[in-house]
Amino acid sequence: MHDLVIRNASVYDGTGSAPVITDIAIDGDRIAGIGTPGAAREELDATGLALAPGFIDVHTHDDFAAVLYPDMAFKVCGGVTTCIVGNCGMGAAPFRQAALLARAFHPGQELPDWGDYHGYFDTLDAQPPSVNVGVLVGHGSMRMAAMHRDSGAPSADQMAQMKAILAEGLDAGALGLSTGLIYDPGKYAATEELIELASTLPDGALYATHMRDEGTGLLTSIQEALRIGESAGVPIQISHHKASGHDAWGLVNESLALIDAARARGVSVDADQYPYTAGSTILSAVLAKDVADMRNVRHDDIVIASTAGHSDWEGQSLSQLAQLLELSPEETAQHVLATEPDATVILHSMDENDVQTVLRHPSTMIGSDGIPTLEGRPHPRLYGTFARVLGHYARDLGLFSLEEAVHRMTGLPAAKFGLTDRGEIRTNGYADLVLFDPARVIDVGTFEDPNHYPDGIVHVFVNGRHTVANGVHCGARNGKALRRVSSEQVV
Ligand code: ZN
Ligand code: CU
Repeated sequence: MHDLVIRNASVYDGTGSAPVITDIAIDGDRIAGIGTPGAAREELDATGLALAPGFIDVHTHDDFAAVLYPDMAFKVCGGVTTCIVGNCGMGAAPFRQAALLARAFHPGQELPDWGDYHGYFDTLDAQPPSVNVGVLVGHGSMRMAAMHRDSGAPSADQMAQMKAILAEGLDAGALGLSTGLIYDPGKYAATEELIELASTLPDGALYATHMRDEGTGLLTSIQEALRIGESAGVPIQISHHKASGHDAWGLVNESLALIDAARARGVSVDADQYPYTAGSTILSAVLAKDVADMRNVRHDDIVIASTAGHSDWEGQSLSQLAQLLELSPEETAQHVLATEPDATVILHSMDENDVQTVLRHPSTMIGSDGIPTLEGRPHPRLYGTFARVLGHYARDLGLFSLEEAVHRMTGLPAAKFGLTDRGEIRTNGYADLVLFDPARVIDVGTFEDPNHYPDGIVHVFVNGRHTVANGVHCGARNGKALRRVSSEQVV
């Protein structure tokens, strides 16, 4: 007698194979059988629905959100069953520096002190969120702990301290190292520093990077990422692959060619992408004079997303706000920064053609890069990323087949991040599953009104537990902190 049988689902197994209509049995947290399941205590008729492995959001900033909002409804109601946190150099530890870097995402929130990475994993164990969490060690937080905001090269002592933090995170179970090379203090790191740190990564652990310049310097940035990965002998994950700002549009054709060439010589390099022509980040990074790729974004195209105390500014572009405040756009930017140092913004900076070119490429998996500031007006990618790829780009625009779309959000990332027994529907695999309506699935949130769950995500199971039923979160919190225990295994 099985715990559950899902009948007559159109099964997309995550490998990219065409769907097959069949039945799936679940026992405990695992898939017990496919095709001939037999009797069960509970049955779910899935006629007309697609059944896929739960989506893996490889690029998130949910380190603190997983603890602050353990129901993680903004992810799991969109079909996500695993989040990779710690991206863009912003890790979960050491706590003091991590909290400082995450402060902009959680204005006014009391953040719980967990100390080091072991403490972070223990916190997730003690209060499990609704989704699984895989962890990257953030270079920015470790550099700040070792060197504060020193813009120079690390001393031997400081390098040893950074290596100790990285080792502690990896020992706790982290999947790799991330950098954020436009942010303070990650941007002060020279390539050599990053090679030295990445060289200490164990077999299979990866290097994920928000590159130094996603604008006109995109190609140099890709070359730097490749050099770091190849010198250190580690797999590379390019974060949110894009060409930002008008002057850089079209460069993705060449950045993809660099990725293809590296793959041809045997380098493991992939990328992630969110399916929108706008990005989002902290205003201070956009205005920093030493950050090259932001110089050609226009004031019209910079919109305030969230602030600690000026909700009336949210949704306004710097140009609109300039009129309101009777200041020049430059003065407005400085005024906002002075009053709201942690303001986040949305940047309308990409070309739709580029977005589609990157999305079509086989190196691209899906990552929301959502900023989990639930107050304010976060970029709608926080909620809608996966539904938008399935509904808008695969079904409506036909960029690729639905099975390919599912593969980019399941089997492909599971293989890259080494998530054992996840990302594919197979016997004995974890029962992280999503049932969606392929005719209806679509993102709903807009830039004006982002805080909406997508349409057409009907049921979600996390480690066998029914977590979303008929589109509604049922309160289950069955996610696990995923620990890398060897080069072959994440548990
Ligand atoms: Zn980033
Ligand atoms: Cu990011």
